[in-house]
Amino acid sequence: MLDLKDYGIDMWPKEKIEAFRKALLDWYDANKRDLPWRRTADPYAVWVSEIMLQQTQVVTVIPYYERFLDWFPTVEALAEATEERLLKAWEGLGYYSRVRNMQAAAQQIMTTFAGDFPQTYEEILSLKGIGPYTAGAIASMAFGLPEPAVDGNVMRVMARLFEVDYDIGDPKNRKIFQAIMEELIDPERPGDFNQALMDLGTDIEAPKNPRPEESPVRAFSAAYLHGTMDKYPIKEAKKKPRPVEIQAFVIRNQEGQYLLEKNQEGRLLSGFWSFPIMETQLVAQQLDLFEEGNQVLEPLSQLRGFEEKYQLEPVWKEQAFSLITHVFSHQKWRIQLVEGWVKDPQLPDEGQLVWADLEDFETYPFATPQKKMVDAYLRNS
Ligand code: ADE
Repeated sequence: MLDLKDYGIDMWPKEKIEAFRKALLDWYDANKRDLPWRRTADPYAVWVSEIMLQQTQVVTVIPYYERFLDWFPTVEALAEATEERLLKAWEGLGYYSRVRNMQAAAQQIMTTFAGDFPQTYEEILSLKGIGPYTAGAIASMAFGLPEPAVDGNVMRVMARLFEVDYDIGDPKNRKIFQAIMEELIDPERPGDFNQALMDLGTDIEAPKNPRPEESPVRAFSAAYLHGTMDKYPIKEAKKKPRPVEIQAFVIRNQEGQYLLEKNQEGRLLSGFWSFPIMETQLVAQQLDLFEEGNQVLEPLSQLRGFEEKYQLEPVWKEQAFSLITHVFSHQKWRIQLVEGWVKDPQLPDEGQLVWADLEDFETYPFATPQKKMVDAYLRNS
């Protein structure tokens, strides 16, 4: 067990811990948000909500959550879902490995746990895509186990309570906050305790413009009492996403259908359909188009990259249009749309390419960048 003293943290005496639990839970009972996943103790439903909430805000999650449970009401239904339907259910939420991992975990539950959701922290943690936070959330909310669910919100609140001088963005420091929470968590109501901290952390103790004077636990907060709220939590700046220049090709055949391509496995947004896209930089490298020291490309010469790869020879519209941007956690795409028409609709065998009518677009899973491209295209045409 980690000794909090080694990290400059003095844990409170038992009476203070109990008073803290009471202050927090009384506030939660009077102020908690009425959220659909708080009306159930079904571990499957709690799991779905927690995975969705990892990168997405509560208001956005609610309709996705309800539809997901409607489409896949049980672990078994999720285990058996087709890829297309799975991606459709997650369309727009981003970070799609989350839902793929969920399906793998559902299959694990069917095979390893005979279809019954595992009921111990360690077993829950053994499921694909479930880390200590999600395992703690499910164990505490669905099974009443005294397991902390330590995410950024909880770390922020803890950092202010104890003036923790360790970066909350550094994964190796997570264990400090875990150890604090193991002392504080209320063994009688662990699920509510965790969720009370989530509510506190997303509103009154938000990262920006917190309102510490409204906090039900301000009397316990070292940072509040010492006037150091500005300093805590300690958080080093993150790396900026890398800019990537993309060209997207809006290609029509003589019947007015559009060329769509399914993203290959192992690539970003794999399994989703999109207009063919190519990274400008890569095209340039492949065609040896960069002069030494000259990073500027003739706009139309980039099109040769498309022609080579797809074995099509479109008539290109003179002007490329629309710059769309989309920010992933690690990349920032700047997408330029280029339009062209082909006479011969023959497609190369390799890759997964189809001609699709505009009316049928909704049957293909589209990720957000593709949705933006379609919108921009329709606005401009
Ligand atoms: N964020 C993550 N889990 C949550 C929950 N159970 N309730 C509210 N916000 C959350």
